[in-house]
Amino acid sequence: MLSIMKLSPKMKKALNDQVTLETSAANSYLAMASWCEVTGYQGAADYFYAQSDEERTHMLKIVHYLNSLGTIATIPATKAPSSSYKSLEMLINTALKNEQAVTKAIHNMVEIAQKEKDHSTYVFLEWFVNEQVQEETKFETIIQKFDLLGRDKLGINEIDKFLATEATAPADPVA
Ligand code: FEO
Repeated sequence: MLSIMKLSPKMKKALNDQVTLETSAANSYLAMASWCEVTGYQGAADYFYAQSDEERTHMLKIVHYLNSLGTIATIPATKAPSSSYKSLEMLINTALKNEQAVTKAIHNMVEIAQKEKDHSTYVFLEWFVNEQVQEETKFETIIQKFDLLGRDKLGINEIDKFLATEATAPADPVA
């Protein structure tokens, strides 16, 4: 059902840019999963395949939101992600940096919504604000494991096992 509420051009652009960011994140995690799989980190591969699926659900949430307001979402072409990594630790660090950039973009949209008194988008974004806290914490926790368990083969193996237990299907169904 189409709503009569209109998005400002600025908010429309920001939401479409976010579709691009979430799509890039999905592709980036897919590339990471693939690298982990061929490198022999099966737990990490499972983790990042699931993470990639999760990012796709984020992208779809925004696509559905834009479409529900009668603003047809732009499905973007994205830059190819890096397909090789020096180590699992570097890969996780890259993932955390990705999430920090996504958080910044979400917060920027919240500020636009506040300024424009766009209450509908403000409420819509609340889920993303909370999600980003969880996402950053997840990756910070994994990074901490390298100090706790070590960076030798045994340590990495333990981290890979930990990632296998953390690999889950998207927790939140697409709204
Ligand atoms: Fe959808 Fe991990 O940001």
